[in-house]
Amino acid sequence: MDMSVKQLFQSGTLGNLILKNRFVLAPMTRISATATGDVGPLMTKYYKGFARGGFGAVITEGVYTDRAYSQGYKGQPGIADASQQESWKKLIHKVKGEDTKIIMQLMHAGALSQFNGFSSETCGPSAVLPKGEQMAFYHGRGGYVRPKEMTSEEIKIAISGFVNAAQRAQDAGVDGIEIHGANGYLLDQFLTDYTNIRKDEYGGDVISRLRLTSEIIERVREKVGKTFTLGVRISQAKVNDFEHKWRGQIEDAQTIFTGIAKTGVSYIHTTEFLATAPAFNSGSSLAKLAREFSGLPVIANGGLNSPDQAMDMIKTEQAQFVAIGKGALAAPDLPKRILKEEPLPEFDFAMLMPIADIKVSELSTVNNG
Ligand SMILES: Cc1cc2nc3c(=O)[nH]c(=O)nc-3n(C[C@H](O)[C@H](O)[C@H](O)COP(=O)(O)O)c2cc1C
Repeated sequence: MDMSVKQLFQSGTLGNLILKNRFVLAPMTRISATATGDVGPLMTKYYKGFARGGFGAVITEGVYTDRAYSQGYKGQPGIADASQQESWKKLIHKVKGEDTKIIMQLMHAGALSQFNGFSSETCGPSAVLPKGEQMAFYHGRGGYVRPKEMTSEEIKIAISGFVNAAQRAQDAGVDGIEIHGANGYLLDQFLTDYTNIRKDEYGGDVISRLRLTSEIIERVREKVGKTFTLGVRISQAKVNDFEHKWRGQIEDAQTIFTGIAKTGVSYIHTTEFLATAPAFNSGSSLAKLAREFSGLPVIANGGLNSPDQAMDMIKTEQAQFVAIGKGALAAPDLPKRILKEEPLPEFDFAMLMPIADIKVSELSTVNNG
């Protein structure tokens, strides 16, 4: 085996965790929870499949945080109450039993919510109609609805939602928590100039638009303790606006990544369509900028399922870990296959269907039991 491929199989440090290799499962919403947002019957087997397949860590799908406005999708799991918390315990235990770390991604959908069992309204930083269309494969139809502008009280509720959810997740046994600050959901709506036109301290320049994310990280950090692994995911693109780039380009990257580094986060997870591509005219990937400006461990995501590209990110120290999404759906045992120099199956869009729609017999083949 090529020496540099071996680097992917060296252990690495992420906060207070040591991952056995550099492969992380990217967070992927699979809308397979029960009607009450508890972990659904097939989810444990699904996640265990990636753990058995050799991933150093799995990041869960975005899990909603509160019983106010956070839920985004029908079938999305939550950790907003004791029953939902309880339902995660077996899954967490099974993943950890395979010597794989489990990090829960906490998500507030904000204006991009397509379904919420607790409210018929959506909310966001400002009453700006989201671009694009709802996602049909998550049961969405037509355009989004115009959100209502969050009051300071509602912002406080959203912050407490993240803090309480983090506490529940930690008590349920996860190894780490990732705050979803990317992809167009609530925290990214605050960060983005055209969705946040607030006049209070949460709107204005980049640092003010980053304030909600920073406060949430700081408050969660206080709750989970100094050493617990706590990360944040950051992107330019959004599920409803793939082309978006930060207006201030590298200067924005500097403000965002240095700002985040001050909050007490243990790592930054960047996602781009192609993680290896240079961001702006800087010549550096977004992951590399995150690493350079923050000095923190970085997980890079986006089109990294080929060993060459993954290796390049690690070897050149643009990132310390690679997160694999669609490539892992095609091959839940991707790390093991790479180690054994076995071919990687092609991704097929049929693999995106909710786990609940995949026959159990197929699930066990797909996920290695
Ligand atoms: C089915 C599916 C669901 C996703 N759900 C989430 C999610 O819950 N949270 C998140 O941060 N990203 C989510 N993503 C984005 C992935 O984490 C990842 O950024 C994207 O697939 C690009 O990586 P890849 O090229 O390795 O697939 C999802 C992607 C897919 C394909």
